[in-house]
Amino acid sequence: MPEILKLNEISEVANKEFPESYVFSKEVKDPEGIMLRSFNMHEYPLGEKLLAVARAGAGTNNIPIPACTEKGIVVFNTPGANANAVKELVICELFLGGRKIVDAIEWVKTLKGTEGISKAVEKGKSSFVGHEVLGKTLGVIGLGAIGVMVANTAVELGMNVIGYDPYLSISGALHLDNRVHMADLPALLQKADFVTVHVPLTPSTERMFNAENIAKMKDGSVLINNSRGELVDTDAVLEALESGKLERYITDFPADKLIGAKNCICVPHLGASTPEAEDNCAAMAARELVDYIENGNITHSVNYPDVCAPRSSVCRITVMHENVKEVISKITSLISAGGINIANLLDKSKGNTAYMLLDLDDIPDDSVIEKIKAMESVSRVRVFC
Ligand code: MLT
Repeated sequence: MPEILKLNEISEVANKEFPESYVFSKEVKDPEGIMLRSFNMHEYPLGEKLLAVARAGAGTNNIPIPACTEKGIVVFNTPGANANAVKELVICELFLGGRKIVDAIEWVKTLKGTEGISKAVEKGKSSFVGHEVLGKTLGVIGLGAIGVMVANTAVELGMNVIGYDPYLSISGALHLDNRVHMADLPALLQKADFVTVHVPLTPSTERMFNAENIAKMKDGSVLINNSRGELVDTDAVLEALESGKLERYITDFPADKLIGAKNCICVPHLGASTPEAEDNCAAMAARELVDYIENGNITHSVNYPDVCAPRSSVCRITVMHENVKEVISKITSLISAGGINIANLLDKSKGNTAYMLLDLDDIPDDSVIEKIKAMESVSRVRVFC
C-alpha cells in the first residue's frame, strides 16, 4: 500500500490518478512518494523509503535536488501543465507594463464621494496615458512550454518577438511560431521594449538581471519576471526604475524592497493559480509518481534521465547507477549468467547519474539481484515481478 505525503494543498484531481490502494495524505510519516507545490523541502528529512518527489509545477528550487540524487530519489516536475495559466498572466502583464492601468485604478478610488466624477475623470486621465503593444518588440528569454506560448501569443497580438534559449528543445522549436526571431542575449536586451523571463532558477541563472545586463536593455523598457525572484538583483532593478532605464518591473515574486516602489508591480505568485492549472499539475504529478512506483518508468524528471517503456515481459528490474564505463556490460553479464534472457533494455544517463530498465523473460534468483546491488557503481535496484 504505497503512501504519498502531500506537503501543500493539492487539487483533489490527484486522488483520481492514484490506485485505490494508495494513501495520499498530509499525515503520512514514512512515505514512498511526496507531492508538493511551494513547500520548502531543503531542511526536510528524506526518509529511507522515499522513492520520488513530484513538484506540481515547473520550478524545483524548493527541493534539495543534489541530496535527492545522492539518495537515489527521483524528482519530477510537471512541465507545461500550468503553461497556459502563466501565459495568460504574462499577457495581462504586457498590457499592465505598457499602460498605467494599476496606478489609474488606484487614482479612481480617490475620487469616491467626489461631485461630478465624469468631469474629474476626463480632467485627470491625461496623467495615465500609456503605450500599445502592437508593433513593439518583446524579448522572450527561455523557450520552454511557457516561453513558447507567450512568444506565439505575442506574435498574434502584432508584436515583433525575439527569442533566446541556448537549450531550445526540438519540441520547443517545432511549436514556436516561425515569425519569432532568435537572437543572443545582448541583442535581445538591446532591441526589446518588453522582456519576459521564463528560465529555471539555477546557479547560472541567479541574478541574470544584474546591473551589467540591465545596462544593455533599451532605455524605458519593461521587465516581466514570473519565473523566480532570485533571477533579478533587486537593488539593480530599483536603481534602473529610479533612473528611468526601466519603465516598469512586474514580478510574481514580491520582495520587501519592491513593494510600494515606484513603477514596480508585485503580484502574489499567481502565475499557476487557476483551478485548471492546479488540476493539470496535480494529475500529471500523480501519474508520474504512480508510473515510477508501479513500473519504474521515469517521465519529466529533473535529476534522472527520462526512461520509460511499456512492460513487455514477466519481470522488470531497474537499476540506478553511476554513468561510468562497463556498468551495463557487468549487469547484463550477471543476468545472462543467471540463465535469463533480456527482452528489452534501456539505459540513459544525465550528468553523472544513469538509469537502466530491463524487461526479463524470467524471474531472476535473489542472488543475481544481490550481486547487482553489491556493485560499487550501483545505488538502487528495484524489482517488479
Ligand atoms: C511553477 O513553478 O510552476 C509555479 O511556481 C507553480 C506554483 O505556483 O505552485
